[in-house]
Amino acid sequence: MIIERLTISNFRNYRDADVRPSPDLNVLYGDNAAGKTNMLEAIIVASTGRSPRASRDSEMVRWNEGGFHVRAQVCGNGGSSDLEVGCDISGKKIVRVNGQEKRVGDLLARLNTVSFLPDDILVVKGSPARRRRLLDLTLSQGSQGYHYHLLQYQRILLHRNALLRDLAVRRRTSDVGSLVEPWDRQIAKVGAFIVERRKAALTILSTAAAAAYSRMSGGESLLVKYAPSIPLDDGDDADAISRRMLGCLEECRGEDIRHGATSVGPHRDDISFQVNGSDARLFGSQGQQRTVILAVKAAEIQFLKSKNGEAPVLLLDDVFSELDDARQASVAREMAAGLQCFITCTEMDRIEDMVDDASLYRVRAGEVAAIDAHQGCS
Ligand SMILES: Nc1ncnc2c1ncn2[C@@H]1O[C@H](COP(=O)(O)OP(=O)(O)O)[C@@H](O)[C@H]1O
Ligand SMILES: [Mg+2]
Repeated sequence: MIIERLTISNFRNYRDADVRPSPDLNVLYGDNAAGKTNMLEAIIVASTGRSPRASRDSEMVRWNEGGFHVRAQVCGNGGSSDLEVGCDISGKKIVRVNGQEKRVGDLLARLNTVSFLPDDILVVKGSPARRRRLLDLTLSQGSQGYHYHLLQYQRILLHRNALLRDLAVRRRTSDVGSLVEPWDRQIAKVGAFIVERRKAALTILSTAAAAAYSRMSGGESLLVKYAPSIPLDDGDDADAISRRMLGCLEECRGEDIRHGATSVGPHRDDISFQVNGSDARLFGSQGQQRTVILAVKAAEIQFLKSKNGEAPVLLLDDVFSELDDARQASVAREMAAGLQCFITCTEMDRIEDMVDDASLYRVRAGEVAAIDAHQGCS
């Protein structure tokens, strides 16, 4: 997949920007606070409908403006598409594909992105929600069905939790089973679909991440493991998972009513990362943790390639200021080869060996301009 043209208006510090990126490597170069990350954020918004760093769409609207608009014209195996995401003055999200109003799921299928942002260290160090989000985004980009099951699951979970709280408030004890059970069945059915997909994806991701990590670190080992909220056997299919989940939901019902929350299901899953046999979250160095994330991102690229038959667009934000020199070259080679990539940097010498083949863009105070690589950029 390739972004052929990116048009941005009233997004963050950009009034208007119009870029026709190269299908290979694009380097966004500029001082701090120039707008480099904002441009990657705009690409992520066009690809997933939401920002990894804004909790509300209105945060991305340029100050004192009414709404923003991001448009990505993309080309992939499925042909060309014109993706638009915006936010109007009332805060309403607008999603269009080829001029027609569509849902976020339609964007996910047309523009896949894998991004490495400084904040991603939290995938290793932060809460399980960060790790689930990474897994869900990867799986949703690989399958619209997964995305819609996830939305359905979230709705069912809200209903079950509302019922649990209601039962607790009313101190109701009769007929509790018959009220909760229909929701348990739905959670188990939709939840098993999600868990089965996660389990299968982790098998692929884990192998690819281990290979990438070993290459990037000069032989260290990485084990990425699915930690579901219910016990699973390797051979479990969706039906078996559903039965197990139903059993666990029944077991926890009393406790769930007391807490007003559902204690088992995919919304409580986690992933663990072990480097050389110990938990990377607790014992990994900063450098190892970053390399874990990069290896997982490299694995995501492999996963999406195998699912969709084409490579996603790669977004690397400030990656070179975060890693030590020895690893940089191999990371860059490993990840940026054979796909469209956007890299941001403040110091040009960090990426000198890559610049010959790259298209360079100077970003300054919310304006972006293509520059000639051989003129230098001091
Ligand atoms: N909604 C907004 N409207 C206008 N400017 C914004 C908005 N949100 C962030 N900014 C500005 O964007 C700049 C940061 O841009 P960013 O892309 O993160 O910089 P960098 O080039 O260092 O990656 C800051 O100057 C910030 O004030
Ligand atoms: Mg930045």
